[in-house]
Amino acid sequence: MKLLVTGGAGFIGSNFIRYILNKYPDYQIINLDKLTYAGNLENLKDFEYHPNYKFVRGDILNSELLEHIAADCDIIVHFAAESHVDRSVLGADDFIRTNVLGTQVLLETARKLGNKRFHHISTDEVFGSLPLEDSDKAFIEETPYEPRSPYSASKAASDHLVRAYFHTYGLPITISNCSNNYGQYMFPEKMIPLFITNLLQGEKVPLYGDGKNVRDWIHVDDHCSAVDAVIHRGKIGETYVVGARCEKSNIELTKMILSCMGFGDEMIEYVKDRPGHDRRYAIKPYKIQAELGWRPQIDFDSGIRSMIDWYMNNQEWWRRIKSGDYKDYYDLWYKKR
Ligand SMILES: NC(=O)c1ccc[n+]([C@@H]2O[C@H](COP(=O)([O-])OP(=O)(O)OC[C@H]3O[C@@H](n4cnc5c(N)ncnc54)[C@H](O)[C@@H]3O)[C@@H](O)[C@H]2O)c1
Repeated sequence: MKLLVTGGAGFIGSNFIRYILNKYPDYQIINLDKLTYAGNLENLKDFEYHPNYKFVRGDILNSELLEHIAADCDIIVHFAAESHVDRSVLGADDFIRTNVLGTQVLLETARKLGNKRFHHISTDEVFGSLPLEDSDKAFIEETPYEPRSPYSASKAASDHLVRAYFHTYGLPITISNCSNNYGQYMFPEKMIPLFITNLLQGEKVPLYGDGKNVRDWIHVDDHCSAVDAVIHRGKIGETYVVGARCEKSNIELTKMILSCMGFGDEMIEYVKDRPGHDRRYAIKPYKIQAELGWRPQIDFDSGIRSMIDWYMNNQEWWRRIKSGDYKDYYDLWYKKR
């Protein structure tokens, strides 16, 4: 099987490529990535010379390039996106360009090439925000869309386009809407790696608002196994929501990281909340469990501990990112807003 993976130099895409090449050594992968600020070839340094892996630097909006590299692929697995909510608040242009237009260009290419199999990676954020008070409520496949940030609105638009290509042209698609990922190679602008690396630098951790917002966490390796299940056994035209049923408030999570790393609450710095900050996300992943037999394997406690170890042992990786352009964004968002 030959896969075209878009966005494979980012956090989840690079973990997915590693997962697939380890599990299916005879599969071939082309990784198409523009290498934006979030793309990093160091994430896949160990696969650079793998005979079944090829990297192509390019934009998913480049239809000519896509037609060329996707021609002999069996499936397109589409991770490429602008993925950070805070950045979408600062400016939505790139989010619309890549997440909406880019997805449409990919879909059109898949159609032109004789209706290629297409799997779209999406997020639970398309469903909006759940109340804190009703802890039984969680997103399922039928939950109506109610995106509230420019990021989630752009992902919702892309999901709709993917479904439209299924209904209109019979494009053989599947979609997965996953909850918040954590794990190795996560860009240190996102909460968990930001907090771990700040603490390793002796700096405080910036916690939004009252810290009560709840996220449903899943280890990136479990997300990869869910995508593996959907691309091999998922029913064409269907959506699967993916989560590990691990809800944590941000304050609870922060205290857990602090305690694992030997720090106390004095390292918390409460900062101005994100505008429109969704209160709670939660997923009931019953369909993927019942129909595809998928189960998450990594419990949160050991997942977080191994993530902390990874960031302790890979300081060069994140220190280089944190001392680059990223610093300008950090100052703009946390200090000058
Ligand atoms: N991070 C999460 O918790 C999470 C949860 C659910 C779903 N998702 C979805 O998973 C996917 C991957 O997320 P991530 O956290 O790995 O993102 P990321 O920001 O770490 O990586 C995105 C990658 O896409 C590439 N890219 C961006 N624009 C491109 C373009 N125009 N052409 C080609 N490549 C381009 C970047 O260079 C980068 O390598 C996204 O679609 C995101 O919406 C993420």
